[in-house]
Amino acid sequence: MNDRAEFTLHVDGRELSAYDGDTIAAVLVRDGRVSWRRTRIWDRPRGLFCGIGACQDCLVSVDGVRGVRACLAPAFPEAYVSTDEGSRDE
Ligand code: FES
Repeated sequence: MNDRAEFTLHVDGRELSAYDGDTIAAVLVRDGRVSWRRTRIWDRPRGLFCGIGACQDCLVSVDGVRGVRACLAPAFPEAYVSTDEGSRDE
């Protein structure tokens, strides 16, 4: 049972539920995403890899700030998260 407070944030235009203590990567993985950006040179998918802030595979934009490590960044209410994958769908 999860007794943490639930809140909503926005990812690529979708509303997703999160819980106190979640990282943004946790929210994305819970949503079923295994990758959320592409590499510039080889266009390879990247997502959660090291999970400790070392590899930078998990970069997202949060409230307009680019290059945020999703594995370290805490999710917070009404955050606007943008991934490369989301921007390619537009
Ligand atoms: S998964 Fe490696 S920095 Fe986030």
